[in-house]
Amino acid sequence: MSETTGQPEGNQALSDQLPEGGFPPPAELAAAANAGPDVHERAAADRVGFWEDAARRLDWAEPWEQALDWSNPPFAKWFVGGKLNVAVNCVDRHVDAGHGDQVAYHWVGEPGDTRTLTYAELKDEVCRTANALTELGVTAGDRVAIYLPMIPEAVISMLACARIGAVHMVVFGGFSPDALASRITDADAKVVITADGGYRRGAPSPLKPNVDEALTKTEGVRSVLVVKRTETDVEWTEGRDVWWHELVAGQSAEHEAQAFDAEHPLYIMYTSGTTAKPKGILHTSGGYLTQVSYTHWATFDLKPDTDVFWTAADVGWVTGHSYIVYGPLANRATSVMYEGTPETPHRGRWWEIVQQYGVTILYTAPTTIRTFMKWGDDVPAGFDLSSLRLLGSVGEPINPEAWLWYHKNIGGGRCPIVDTWWQTETGAHMITPLPGTTTLKPGSAQRPFPGIAASVVDEEGKPIEPGATGYLVLTEPWPSMLRTIWGDDERYVDTYWSRYGQGVYFAGDGAKLDEDGDIWLLGRVDDVMNVSGHRISTTEVESALVSHPTVAEAAVVGATDPTTGQGIVAFVILRGDAVDSGEDLVKALRQHVRKEIGPIASPRQIMVVAELPKTRSGKIMRRLLRDIAENRELGDVSTLTDSSVMDLISSKLPAAP
Ligand code: WT7
Repeated sequence: MSETTGQPEGNQALSDQLPEGGFPPPAELAAAANAGPDVHERAAADRVGFWEDAARRLDWAEPWEQALDWSNPPFAKWFVGGKLNVAVNCVDRHVDAGHGDQVAYHWVGEPGDTRTLTYAELKDEVCRTANALTELGVTAGDRVAIYLPMIPEAVISMLACARIGAVHMVVFGGFSPDALASRITDADAKVVITADGGYRRGAPSPLKPNVDEALTKTEGVRSVLVVKRTETDVEWTEGRDVWWHELVAGQSAEHEAQAFDAEHPLYIMYTSGTTAKPKGILHTSGGYLTQVSYTHWATFDLKPDTDVFWTAADVGWVTGHSYIVYGPLANRATSVMYEGTPETPHRGRWWEIVQQYGVTILYTAPTTIRTFMKWGDDVPAGFDLSSLRLLGSVGEPINPEAWLWYHKNIGGGRCPIVDTWWQTETGAHMITPLPGTTTLKPGSAQRPFPGIAASVVDEEGKPIEPGATGYLVLTEPWPSMLRTIWGDDERYVDTYWSRYGQGVYFAGDGAKLDEDGDIWLLGRVDDVMNVSGHRISTTEVESALVSHPTVAEAAVVGATDPTTGQGIVAFVILRGDAVDSGEDLVKALRQHVRKEIGPIASPRQIMVVAELPKTRSGKIMRRLLRDIAENRELGDVSTLTDSSVMDLISSKLPAAP
C-alpha cells in the first residue's frame, strides 16, 4: 500500500497503462515550450541571476539595487530598493500595451449567469474600487478583510488593495463567523468586503450574517462593503455598512497608482499549523509577483494570445491568489473563473465550461479528480474536451490511478500533467515537472523548479540516498517565500527554520527519492491533515471539540479517505456529567465544529470513548488511533500506559465507511 493514498502499488492493471520510462513531452509542445531544455542548467549556473531575469518580466518603477539580502536569515529581502505597483503590473501595463480588449476573465456564476471582463474593464473596476477604499479611509499598510464568494469583485478587491498598498486578508467563504473574527482580530483589519451571499449547490448561501456575527466578537472594523450577489435580505448597520453598488459605482475610473517597495506587504493568508491558532502567512510584493508570474508562465507554458486558462479553485486559498489572480494577470492570461460546485446543476458542469470557453489549460486538485472518477467516465465523454492541451494537479499527492484517469479521460491521452508541489508559505510552485522537457512519472512531482533548491534529508538533516524516505527541506531562499508569520517572528523561526538549523526550511512533508533523483511527496509528517486539499490542524479540531460543554478530552487524526485524501476522525471522552445520546450527540458535536471552524473541518467520524491511548509521558498516541480509524492491525502498543485501552476503543467501533 502507498503510505499516503492507501492505493495498492504495482498492481497489474496500473502498470499496464504506464509506458516504459514514463510519458515524454508531446513533440509539438516541446518545440514551442516557454521553458526550454536549458532552463534548469541556466538557473543552476546563477540562481539569483536567474530570478533577476524573471523579475525583469515585470514593470519596475525603480530598479533594485540588490537582488537578495539574506544577511539576517531566515528574514529574506528580495529585489531590495526596487519599487513597483502589483496591480499596475497585473492590469494597466497590458492595457497600455494595447491589450485592453483582451478578456481577463470569463466569469461563470453557478446559476448560469456570466460576466466577461476585459483588461480595460478590469482596470476601470480596480481604479473605482481603489478610490472607494480610499474614501473609506484605507491607506497603505492597512489590512482589509475579504470574505466573498467566487465573483469578479473578489479579484477586483484584491487588486484594489494592492493598488493602494493595503494588505488584503482573504478568508474563504466556508469559514465560520468565529474563524473570521479571530483572523480579523489577529490581522487587525479595518474594513471587511463581503456579499449578501453566494451560490452554492443550487441555492444562495449567506455571507453577510456571518460578518455581522463575527463583528460582535472583534473590534476595530469601521466599514463593511457589501456586494449584492444573491439579493437576499440582510441586516444593516447604519454608519458601518455600505453597498458596493452605491459606493464603488459612483467613483472615478481614474486612479494614479503609486509604486511601493518590493518588500511592501501584499497579503496575509491564514493557514493551519500544528497548534490551534492559525498562522498568518505574510507575502510581499516584488519577489512574490516575480515567482508566481514566472512559474505560471513556465509550468503551464502559458501563451497569452491563444490559451484559455482555468484554475478550478477558490480565490480564498493560496492557489486562487497565485494562479487565479496574480500569476495569470501578470502574464496577461485569459482565465475562466467559476463560482460554484462541480455537480451543480449536473455532474458535467466543468466539462461543459471547458467546451464552451475552449479551455486549454486546467488546474485542479486530486480530490476533485477522484470525485470525477467516481462519477464515471461517461460524464466527461459527453463533452468536447479537445481544446485542452495541458493539465495540472495541486494540493496533495496524486495517486497514479487518479493521474492516469485524468490523463486519459480529461486529457485525451495527449495532455501532459504537471503535478505541482508547493504551499501557502512558498507562495508559488516549488517542485514540478516542466511540460516541454520532463518525461512524466504519474504520482511524482519530480524536480525542483529552476532556481529552487530542495533536498530530502534524514532526521539529522543529511541528504538521503536514492530509494530512501525522509523529510523535504528547502535549502536556499526563494523570491515568493513567506516573509514571516504576521505579528509572530518567533513562531516563524521556530516552525520553519529551527529543526535543521540556519537557512534550512522544514516543509513538514515526507518525501521519497527514487533512483533517478525524482521526488515523490508522501504527505504531512506533522499534526496537519489534508482534507480535499485543505489544510486542517488536528489540534484546531481538538480544541473546537473540547470547547463543547460535553467534551472532556479529544484526539483527532486524519484517516486515509478514498475521495478526500484524508478524512477527519475524532475520538472524544465525555465529561462525567454529560450524557451520551448517541447519534444526537455526534450530530451536535459535528455542528459545533462547523460553527467553530467551518464545514470543511467537520469530522467524518466521531467516536465516544472511555479513554485515549497515551504514552507514559501523557502524549496521545495518534499513530494507534490512526490504525483504528483506518481499520488496520494495531502497531506497537508497548509504550502505552495501559494496552487494554485499545481493546476498549476497538470494541466500540462501527465499521469504517
Ligand atoms: C501542503 C500545503 C499549494 C496550494 C494548495 C495547498 C500538500 C500541495 C502537493 C503536491 C503532494 C502536495 C503538501 C503541502 N501538497 N501540493 N503536488 N503533491 N503534496 O496549500 O494548504 O498550504 O498545503 O499541501 O502536504 O505541505 P496548503
